Amino acid sequence: MKTKLRLDQVAKSYGPVRALRPTTLDVPEGEFLTLLGPSGSGKSTLLQILAGLTACDQGDVWIDGRLSTDTPPHDRGVGLIFQNYALFPHLTVAQNIAFPLEMRRLPRAEIDRRVTRMLEVVQLPHVGDRLPRELSGGQQQRVAFARCSVYEPSIILMDEPLGALDKRLRDDMQTEIRRLHKELGATILYVTHDQEEAMAMSDRICLMNDGGIAQLGTPSEIYFRPRSVFAAEFVGHANFIAPASDRANSKCMVRPENIRILEEAERADTVIDAILEDTIMLGAFSRHVARSVTGERLVAVNWSDEKGTMHRPGEAIRLGWDACDTVHLAAEAGR
Ligand SMILES: Nc1ncnc2c1ncn2[C@@H]1O[C@H](COP(=O)(O)OP(=O)(O)O)[C@@H](O)[C@H]1O
Ligand SMILES: [Mg+2]
Repeated sequence: MKTKLRLDQVAKSYGPVRALRPTTLDVPEGEFLTLLGPSGSGKSTLLQILAGLTACDQGDVWIDGRLSTDTPPHDRGVGLIFQNYALFPHLTVAQNIAFPLEMRRLPRAEIDRRVTRMLEVVQLPHVGDRLPRELSGGQQQRVAFARCSVYEPSIILMDEPLGALDKRLRDDMQTEIRRLHKELGATILYVTHDQEEAMAMSDRICLMNDGGIAQLGTPSEIYFRPRSVFAAEFVGHANFIAPASDRANSKCMVRPENIRILEEAERADTVIDAILEDTIMLGAFSRHVARSVTGERLVAVNWSDEKGTMHRPGEAIRLGWDACDTVHLAAEAGR
């Protein structure tokens, strides 16, 4: 598949702060790639270097196969949406969306055609004459997306665009952005520190930590096959267990949904004796917290089963899982 975007050994420091270590990243055309990581891990720095808003200290940026390291932002064919996506308050919705086209001096008829089409894409066909303040937060966000997409940028960069919205609205907008991604066929780089948002939206996740890429992979790879303790802990609950063999410096991890409470005489590849501390019924799932005989705290999350055996807090249980669900983590892997 065609590479849309390439960072080649790109790095950036602010004085003594290494905001981005030398980083290499390829993004294929049409991909939805999310930069996920804690605050300060370098996500915005990477995005701003791609947008041309921040100059890198070393390395090269390639866009559409063209060396673009020194290309000014408006010549990169890149659309940007940030958390504070200010629409022009005194312009109507249609005028807001038309703005980038007027800057590019497109003919009036072409502008009108594209604005009408974009309003349909974001499912707001009847609000063109309204002012931004007459729309809900989610609708304003859709208009911001329309304004950014109307000139058909080859790449759309979004830096925590939903951060200011409440949870319900955020869920709706996630679905909306996914749909728009499919409809427009654009390559999207999306920044978030929210692991569930990253899982829900992305073709691939670029997990960042301390100014570098900790791991790059599909949501499923990152979740089920983390390569470092950092990755294992950042994208969900990780049960750490001592490795079966005494491989120094290695750690083992198993996800809660892969651990089950064994029935009497039931076998499993790995079995641990434990005391059940608590069971919380969450509806579809039940969450069991147990303490192994060697003192490790283990969390198992299973489908709730009304007819299943009930275990009480304080009861001795056996926890088990399949060998293939044990993930071996190198202490410093992923760097
Ligand atoms: N303009 C700047 N001046 C000085 N330090 C900066 C600047 N921008 C970012 N940094 C620092 O670079 C690091 C990475 O920041 P950033 O890319 O914004 O992280 P993120 O978006 O993942 O939260 C942080 O330590 C941050 O404080
Ligand atoms: Mg940021």
